[in-house]
Amino acid sequence: MWVKDVDGNEYIDFTSGVLVTNLGHCHPALVQAIKEQSERLMNCYSFPTPERVDLSRRLVKTLPDNLNKVFLLTTGSDATEAALRVARRYTGKFEVLAFYGAFHGRTYGALSVAGNLSTRRQFGPPVPGGIIAPYAYCYRCVYDKKYPDCEFFCVRALDRVLESSSSGETGSVIVEPYQGAAGFIFPPEGWLKTLEAWCIKRELVLIVDEVQSSFGRTGKMYAIEWENVQPQLLCIGKGFGSGMPSSALAGESRIFEAMRPGELSSTWGGNPLASAASLAVLDVMAEERLPENSDRVGAKLKARLMELKDKHPALGDIRGKGLVIGLEIVDPADGFTPAPELTDKMLYTAAENGMLLGKVGLYGNVIRIAPPLVISEEEALVGVAILDRVLSEISI
Ligand SMILES: Cc1ncc(COP(=O)(O)O)c(C=O)c1O
Repeated sequence: MWVKDVDGNEYIDFTSGVLVTNLGHCHPALVQAIKEQSERLMNCYSFPTPERVDLSRRLVKTLPDNLNKVFLLTTGSDATEAALRVARRYTGKFEVLAFYGAFHGRTYGALSVAGNLSTRRQFGPPVPGGIIAPYAYCYRCVYDKKYPDCEFFCVRALDRVLESSSSGETGSVIVEPYQGAAGFIFPPEGWLKTLEAWCIKRELVLIVDEVQSSFGRTGKMYAIEWENVQPQLLCIGKGFGSGMPSSALAGESRIFEAMRPGELSSTWGGNPLASAASLAVLDVMAEERLPENSDRVGAKLKARLMELKDKHPALGDIRGKGLVIGLEIVDPADGFTPAPELTDKMLYTAAENGMLLGKVGLYGNVIRIAPPLVISEEEALVGVAILDRVLSEISI
């Protein structure tokens, strides 16, 4: 939970890097697994080493029943790119429905289904086929509706989006269960399930991008478990290696069978070192019951942060699940206008007070609270006390 900078200053880490070090920094079991593996074998391209085979088998066991195959890769973008390719091949259709604010990585296919200009600006034309529709950002609903009265209008409106923007070649939908880069935006309960039903009715392949949300972050191993959603393809990354680059694409075998052997190959994907690390992550997640800890400590942390809301008018919206909580920072004068400068001030003031925070958001005004999943209740309270102090300091 604690890191030191080059000058010896100590910080409590409320970032996990960028939601990566779910086990905390340098967990002894992870370090040991990497050390031992590095003395045995580090790379042998795509041969089925014991570590690769064990990891694939164990990963499948953590997944919903329909996801019975995995392909091991290195980065989150690798996983989303692979998902897009596999979905195109399987459906024979090139269009993909994605969402405003979405972030699926910085490689070309992934940025072509990004729903935010900053990812695409000045790179020339994106890969054709990305169709972008509003996400369920209820705090700032683009349709000016209110949940639950809206009855998921934004899902029903997807038909209009396809009628106006598709050439009839839409084969899949890619979605984050909560949007990370866009500002830790959590759709209301039932939204993802409603979207799944909408996809099933139209025979669209559902790709869920859990690069960020998987491996206990939201209080369950996978965020899709909250609503029992069963996508046909699932992207896994970040916490899967907890510091070692390791990612995966999980899917239904009938979908993977659309690919010929070798078409998904990767120099580093599933290498013995990364596989040994991910195996250690799986062990520690189970032994230390990290998804449960994320759920329990996350709920306490969120409740304490909610208590700060009345005291600090800059706290516009507080949302999240498990150990992924967004604080939307707004102009205290009207309680709604995004306040990106105040957000930056909060980041720096927090660092001066010994706490690492991150920033996300379509308007650059969401403080990202995402500590390692090993956090104790006491450490969560240390964080809340620092945040309280920081919010008082920046509003002077
Ligand atoms: C939801 C999501 N998908 C994909 C990615 C891309 O992952 P990577 O940076 O490992 O390529 C990220 C990274 O932030 C992400 O949050």
